[in-house]
Amino acid sequence: MVTATVPEQQVKIGPTQLLINNEWVESVSRRRFETINPATGEVICSVAEADAPDVDNAVQAARNAFKSGEWRKMSATDRGELLYKLADLIEQNTDELARLETLDNGKPLQESLDDLELVIACYRYYAGWADKVQGKTIPISGSYFCYTRHEPVGVVGQIIPWNFPLLMQAWKLAPALATGNTVVLKTAEQTPLSALRVGELIIEAGFPPGVVNILSGYGPTAGSAIARQMDIDKVAFTGSTEVGHLIMEAAAKSNLKRITLELGGKSPNIIFADADMDAAIAGAYNGLFLNQGQCCCAGSRVFVEEKCYDDFVDRTVENAKQRIVGNPFDPQTEQGPQVDKEQFDKVMSYIESGMRDGAQMLCGGNRVGEQGFFIAPTVFADVRDEMKIAQEEIFGPVMSIIKFKDIDEVIQRGNATMYGLAAGVWTKDITKAYAIANNLRAGTVWVNCYDVFDAAAPFGGFKQSGIGRELGEYGLQQYTEVKTVTIKL
Ligand code: NAI
Ligand code: MG
Repeated sequence: MVTATVPEQQVKIGPTQLLINNEWVESVSRRRFETINPATGEVICSVAEADAPDVDNAVQAARNAFKSGEWRKMSATDRGELLYKLADLIEQNTDELARLETLDNGKPLQESLDDLELVIACYRYYAGWADKVQGKTIPISGSYFCYTRHEPVGVVGQIIPWNFPLLMQAWKLAPALATGNTVVLKTAEQTPLSALRVGELIIEAGFPPGVVNILSGYGPTAGSAIARQMDIDKVAFTGSTEVGHLIMEAAAKSNLKRITLELGGKSPNIIFADADMDAAIAGAYNGLFLNQGQCCCAGSRVFVEEKCYDDFVDRTVENAKQRIVGNPFDPQTEQGPQVDKEQFDKVMSYIESGMRDGAQMLCGGNRVGEQGFFIAPTVFADVRDEMKIAQEEIFGPVMSIIKFKDIDEVIQRGNATMYGLAAGVWTKDITKAYAIANNLRAGTVWVNCYDVFDAAAPFGGFKQSGIGRELGEYGLQQYTEVKTVTIKL
């Protein structure tokens, strides 16, 4: 077992090979790649690098597990028990997993711990569903008995991003396993480690061989091989809208595998002058800066009513200047590094573009420290809708504040992007809140709150923010095929 030293902390690394058929194996090519600690820029360790042949091997294992053996014969209640067991094991290893997540991703340790709470809740939520997935009996005309069965889709490919590695693994695995599918999951190349440690716990929990296979690897190689694979029945993807298009295209060109896509966003967070201003300022701040700004649902277009605009801007800038940026293992730290150099460079280029376009940068804009990928919390005011920083997903600690006058105008402007993932509204006036909630084309609308997540509440996007929903009962539908059985009486 490798250990890495980070300031004052020892972190246990766990497995670094591919998990196929409950065995840890090197890739067919024997290639490995390095994963980096974003707080220092130093190599943590290397992991086995999957490519198309490894995807094929994993799919073969998943197909065998789906067709025959223990998994298929297992009762739904026992499947649920396995998920409960996994949740318990994750809970027992919370500290270790949180440290590993923070080491590989850079998020403050407390945020990793918060993620783990949601991870455990997600596995338990779907464990409870396992034996409650059922069809209907349907009174069709004639002398027939007609009923539906909700059957597993089959072998599911899952591709997850690096911003919430453990949580995205849970959102993908839990509903797929509860409904009896088998899985080939590819992690993001930036953050392979925590998912592999969960792989160990999956074996320990007693999942049969081949039910869960976990591959580390890059998108254009291993990820693309999953999207093209002819024996995968469905792909669930979370990541950029750009790659979402590629997944859909690959599904269309291969076997019409089902797809669910959870993609980018440019979510409006709308503050009316009649809001509880302390709550609104805190909500807009956390809704943007959480997780180094690396959230698909980040409230990255903050619309503020003219009447309270100056006050809102002053107080937000004051807060952003106070934010503690640094070593994610330090309990004082509120913001860690961006996940890698590519993301760091991307965010910095958006900051330059905001300045070029004439937005007012009131704080931040610079790198913090000499090592790692830290960016100072940045606030732009007087942002206009047509600016690049108001249109494109920045995925960093950069807030764009935009002035508005009235409700009709802000609804129209709020909807004027290609995205439709989430939205927030802050007001004490129920009619305004209702109008916003009804008229914004977004998969989630938070009223007087933001980033409230629960495994029971569905999440997903309108427009180019995605296809399908994850979580809740709706999330189950995406992992089952409906079979209609008609019996002549
Ligand atoms: P990405 O979409 O390239 O990566 C996400 C996942 O897709 C990773 O596992 C990656 O290996 C895989 N992937 C990449 N190319 C692929 C391909 N051709 N076929 C199949 N799988 C592929 O996102 P990336 O490059 O890490 O970040 C770029 C931007 O995407 C970010 O700056 C952010 O704006 C957005 N993003 C959105 C996320 C979300 O939660 N919706 C998560 C991560 C990124
Ligand atoms: Mg990419």
